[in-house]
Order: sequence, then structure tokens, then C-alpha cells
Amino acid sequence: MECTNERGAVSDPLGKTGDPCVMVIFGASGDLAKRKLLPALYNLARERLLSREFAIVGFSRTRMSHEEFRERISKDMKEHATGSIDPDLWNWFVQRLYYSPGDIQDSNDYQQLKDLLLKVDKEQGTRGNYLYYLATSPELFSPIIQHIGAAGLAREENGRWRRVIIEKPFGRDVESACALNQEIRKVLTESQIYRIDHYLGKETVQNIMVFRFANGIFEPIWNRRYIDHVQITVAEDIGVGQRGDYYDKAGALRDMVPNHMFQLLTLTAMEPPISFEADAVRDEQVKILHAIQSISPEGVLSFTVRGQYGEGMVKGQRVPAYRSEPSVPPDSCTETFVAMKLFIDNWRWANVPFYLRTGKRLPCRVTEIAIQFKSAPFVLFRKTTVEHLKPNLLVLHIQPNEGISLNFGAKVPGPLVRMGTVDMEFKYEDYFGRTPSTGHERLLYDCMLGDATLFQRADMVEASWGVVSTVQDVWNALPHRRYPNYASGTWGPQEANELMARDGREWRKCIK
Ligand code: BG6
Repeated sequence: MECTNERGAVSDPLGKTGDPCVMVIFGASGDLAKRKLLPALYNLARERLLSREFAIVGFSRTRMSHEEFRERISKDMKEHATGSIDPDLWNWFVQRLYYSPGDIQDSNDYQQLKDLLLKVDKEQGTRGNYLYYLATSPELFSPIIQHIGAAGLAREENGRWRRVIIEKPFGRDVESACALNQEIRKVLTESQIYRIDHYLGKETVQNIMVFRFANGIFEPIWNRRYIDHVQITVAEDIGVGQRGDYYDKAGALRDMVPNHMFQLLTLTAMEPPISFEADAVRDEQVKILHAIQSISPEGVLSFTVRGQYGEGMVKGQRVPAYRSEPSVPPDSCTETFVAMKLFIDNWRWANVPFYLRTGKRLPCRVTEIAIQFKSAPFVLFRKTTVEHLKPNLLVLHIQPNEGISLNFGAKVPGPLVRMGTVDMEFKYEDYFGRTPSTGHERLLYDCMLGDATLFQRADMVEASWGVVSTVQDVWNALPHRRYPNYASGTWGPQEANELMARDGREWRKCIK
């Protein structure tokens, strides 16, 4: 049943619990497990969305007993839980933690894992359902899947399910993503594979669909007739920190664009799906990816910009250049900033530019989608002091200040007709309060229920890499850029502004 609260929130008060299962975390001693996965599972237990018949098995190289694993996780939770911990609930939770030390490349260790899973299944009544989470480095994704297949741990029979969540990056270009898809399909069917993109765990990203398709007033103007252009910004103030080794081989384009930015793009641009079934939504998303106009080699030069941060000041602190970060070669030519202009070749979006930009060490952390409408067709107020009427702007604020704002013109009070721009603002926090979360809760929960809507299908991943690969190939063929070309704490290289200026536009000044 639906209920409406005083401020107008409509919600389903009773979510059913996830299916009984054992979740096996490969890479259990790593950062992702302690910072995100375990706190998210605890939050699900707090919300009563976790089955009572549930258990976790950690698998990684470090030698540890079950008890040592429990102690370690209890200690980590003090630092990484998103809210206070209820001692009774924690006690229940911790009894469901098990550990299997093992080498990911050693088949004997999977036999031990299999024995442990049978034991846990009996103890906790998890009904033979296994959810594997691959929180490891990407080169281990395929070996793990081959091993669980060989150990008979991937076979679904007698109503028992086996699902695998695979972290990003899924390949590093079209060829490697296709090859990885082929390899893992030797063991798993597509319905067992859950390719995760943590942006889809963000409430505000999920809200894009609700905003567009649960409200009748936006859809009629959501097209080329009324929209001038769209700007998608994913700005970070942090640098690469300790991830230099991974990042230097990836760069901003691979790290952010085919995954997080294309999720934002496709949800903004897709047609209404015929239902909210996983494949219906993903069919519409993939159509957008296929409709992205391919960029010619010459187009890459004028439609894309790349940059690398030098030293500078971020939030009042002096910070080092990318080339001085740990594990980054001092002559690295990897980009930490990318801006690009894309067109979507379909009836809804023909000739509407989508400008995307993302980068590290920008002035602040902000993710938003700004939809700029066309100006009013006729300036009615010619005899007034109004020189320029600003076009309407709708901004979907994804993070950190989640909300939606609509900017429009209003008369400034007084005897003259003077115009100002004002904001109509909705902030999530004002209406729904804050539910601290890691962003992984919904995704884990959906996987436990077998709902793949918020996970990437093979064709989506391959199509996304297809768009990015052309850009990457042209960049690789060009002489190296003179890096660094933007100072930390600025909005990227000057060419990013020129990209907009050539079209008579400018980037929105994002502030936190
Ligand atoms: C990750 C990237 O996928 O997303 C990181 O690898 C990036 O480089 C991160 O910092 C951004 O996520 P969020 O949730 O902080 O916007």
C-alpha cells in the first residue's frame, strides 16, 4: 500500500526482505569491503531488508580465523558505519560472519570454500543461494569466475540461485570488455551477472527516472524543441591519493565516462521504458548509447579536451601536482580531466549538444545535470531596463547537496519593470531527512531479489566502450600534451572553456 506523509512523500512502507543467501566477498580484506560493503549490509539489517537466513563469507589471502575476521570487521565498523551501531543487532550480524583464507588462483582453496559454504548453509539456513561479490582487482574477475565454475559453485539447480556482482572497471576498451564477457559467459548466464556501477546506488541518480516519468509536466518539454543543451558535471576536489597505480593506467576518460557519466547521460536522455522491468529500462538506455553520434578523428580534436592537474590550492590547502602523487611516473601523460561534446542522433535530441566534464582536483566536489531551456521566443519587455532575459535552467543536483532547482525570471519589486532570476529549490534533506547510507545498500538488496535494473548489461558496457575507444585511439595517436595544463583548484584547462565558447555558451559555475 502507498502512504503519503505530511510533506507529500509517497512511499512503500514495507519492503520485503532479500532472499536467504550467503554472500561471498572476494577481496574481503580490502578497502571496498570494509568501507562500503559491510556497512551497507549492516544498514540493510537495520532496515530489516536482510533475510534472517543470511551469512557472509570473506575470502582473501590473509590468514585469519572466523573469530579474527569478526574482530577485525567489528573494529572497522567503528570507523566506517554510517550511523550508530545497535549492540544487539551487531551481535546478530557478527555471528553470521565467516572467513575462508585462500589464494584466488588456487583451485584447492575453492574446495575449502565449497566445504565452508555447505557448513554455513546448514548453520544459517541460507537455502543454497550464493551471491559472489568480486571486490578484487579486475584481472582477477575472470579467474575467480572460472574457479567457482570448476568447483561447481556457479550452477543453478533446484531453485537455488548463484549470482555474481562484478566491480568496475569492466575491461579497458571494447575488445577487452567483449573478451571478458565471452569468458565469463562460459560459466555464467547473463541473468547471473550483475555488473555494478555505484552511481546507480545513489538516490538522486535513481530519482532521475522518477522525476521524468512520474511527473506529467516535464515530459512534453523534454526534447529538442525546448531544450537548448545539457551540461553534465562530475567534479572532484580530491586527487588520485593512493590509487596512482590503477589510475595512471586508466585516466579520467576510462575511469569516469563509460560508466558513471554515461549512466547520468542515458537516464537523462532515454525514452520512457514500457515498464520498470530490468530489460525494459536497459533496452532504452542502450538505445541512447547506440545513438551517440560517432566522433570522427577530426571531431575528437574539436569535441574533446583533456587535462592533467598541476600543483595548486584546493580548499585553502596547497596540493601537489598529479605527477608528484604516489605511484605516478614523474613524466606521466595520463589525463585527470576530460570535457566533451556529444550529440544523440534521434528524434528527441537531434542537434542538442550534451556537454560532459569530469576531473580531479577541481575547486569542489559536485555532480549535477543542468538542463538549459531555450530562451523565450520574443522579448516582450523591450522598453524596460531588461537587456538579457536568462533562459530557464533546471538542475538535478546529484551530490553533495541533493535536490532539484529551477531557475526562472521574476520581476524585481518596484515601479520599474526590472527582471531578476530566482530559484525554486527542492532539497531532499528538507523533505525526507537524511538516511545515511554507503550507496551500495539498494544495489546489494536488488541483487538479493534478482532485480538487475540498476546493473549494466553486457551490451551496455560494450556500447559505452565503443564511444570512448574512438576518443582514446585518437588521443593515443597524437603527440603527448604539455602537461600539467591546469592548476589544482581551477575548473580544468582553458581549452574546456574554449570548447563552450566556440558554441557561444559557457560552463555553469557550479558551487557546492
Ligand atoms: C570511482 C572512480 O568509480 O568513482 C574514482 O574510480 C572516483 O576515481 C569515484 O573518485 C567517484 O565516486 P563518488 O561516489 O565519490 O562520486
